[in-house]
Amino acid sequence: MVIDFVLLFKLILGLIFILTLVESDPDPLHDYCVGDVKSPHSFYSNGAPCISPERTLASHFATSSLSEVGNMNQFNFNVTLTNTNYLPGLNTLGLVMARIDIAVNGLVPPHSHPRASEVTILLEGSLLVGFVDTSNHLYTQQLRPGDCFVFPKGLIHFLYNTDLVNPAMAVSGLSSQNPGAQISSLAAFRSNPQIPDEVLKKGFKINGQDVVKIRRNLGG
Ligand SMILES: *[C@@H]1O[C@H](CO)[C@@H](O)[C@H](O)[C@H]1NC(C)=O
Repeated sequence: MVIDFVLLFKLILGLIFILTLVESDPDPLHDYCVGDVKSPHSFYSNGAPCISPERTLASHFATSSLSEVGNMNQFNFNVTLTNTNYLPGLNTLGLVMARIDIAVNGLVPPHSHPRASEVTILLEGSLLVGFVDTSNHLYTQQLRPGDCFVFPKGLIHFLYNTDLVNPAMAVSGLSSQNPGAQISSLAAFRSNPQIPDEVLKKGFKINGQDVVKIRRNLGG
């Protein structure tokens, strides 16, 4: 049997390349790299530049930014993130925390985080949560306070407060310092510039009036 070493080598290289693509944020090279979020920088880096360890304070690793509810949006929820602006110490550590408040009967509509898996713990109220995998199978669960649920990276998921009396409050950890969020309905109908009507009509099997109506309902 003749082994094609060149082909084998190419296959291994290709595999390594694919594996590096599916990794989460890069590992930190130092104990920490407190984000220098104050000095304006005119270049783009993968994360914020670090401040000198001599100037690092304990307060760089602490924040109270999750202690208060933010303003509810059109879907009746608010998400507050401990991103590097509020918590510069998490720069390069590959994680972020989110506080999620959902008003009575409010919804965090189907959305995805392209760069992070998410683990949610419900602290108050009750939530119907779920995600759809790439074969369109839906996994849902009704959460009570103390229950956890995990949303795999990149998959479309939702959090729905079915309670007609009590608001819900949950906390999530996400596996990237910049998870990104794409709400499916807004990406399709409220992009800027707009996706051509013909594309939406064919993609959703709807007519032009439906497109206009959905855009208007979503605040467009
Ligand atoms: C949450 O509330 C804050 C503060 O009011 C606001 O800046 C932010 O845009 C809100 N986020 C969402 C997702 O509604």
